[in-house]
Amino acid sequence: MKACGDEFVESNFASEEYEMKIVSMAAPLGARVEGVDLRNVSRQEIKQLQDALLQFGLLHVPKQALTPQEQIQVSSNFGELEDFPPAANQLAAFPQIFRVASRHGDGHVEVGRYWHSDGSFRQIPTTMSIWYLVQKPEAGGETLFTDMQFAAQSLPPEKLEVMKSLETFHRNGVRHPLFMPHPKTGQLALYLNVGLTGGFVGYTPEASAQLIAELNQHLSRPHAVYAHHWEEGDFVIADNYRVAHRATPISSNQRRILDRTTIRGTGAFWNESQTVQELALA
Ligand SMILES: [Fe+2]
Repeated sequence: MKACGDEFVESNFASEEYEMKIVSMAAPLGARVEGVDLRNVSRQEIKQLQDALLQFGLLHVPKQALTPQEQIQVSSNFGELEDFPPAANQLAAFPQIFRVASRHGDGHVEVGRYWHSDGSFRQIPTTMSIWYLVQKPEAGGETLFTDMQFAAQSLPPEKLEVMKSLETFHRNGVRHPLFMPHPKTGQLALYLNVGLTGGFVGYTPEASAQLIAELNQHLSRPHAVYAHHWEEGDFVIADNYRVAHRATPISSNQRRILDRTTIRGTGAFWNESQTVQELALA
């Protein structure tokens, strides 16, 4: 398994109809999937995409052409979709799609311009986020991604020692371990919503704010951040237990529409029979 995205890995998966190719984006994270029409994938290819997401944390599938209904169908290959309540800026017929936009009237304009994983406020967080670019802006609106496993591994050991037993709390009271083992791989990752976290359990507000600022700086170290420049037809999947993201500013003069679907968390998301301290950092 690829640990920190600094080597080049290429694999080919042949099928009778066409060839799907998964290419590492090299440093710092992610892979690009080529030669596939997501509307028409075999069960074997779905499994390969699921495995690649576990391996790379982020998949970019360019050049797709999806209606909202097709986006829902394609997204469902990765799990059960979350629904969103009816709202003026939602697509009425598609409650599974959360439409992000640069302009009021097109969709939700308030998005996380700070490091976060979608659905972190849930008791069982959202496992994956999936975006499909409908309308490309002329400039701006990149999305930044960072590998939270790599972030955990690259903390100085003395800081890790202090932090590894900490719990965060959201403003709605939901708590999560700051270091969360991945439910499938067991790899520890930092899990922090810089914008919505109320603080650390047992910390003063000042101490919490200081540590959040310190971690924010760590997550933003330039060589660890991948900036995705959106092209029309881009389909991007992030493993929220491994990769955090943040929006960058975009002018309302620009028109950008990004349809997002999210995969509901299932069951315990970390193995409660093991404490976080017992799990070794790889
Ligand atoms: Fe987000």
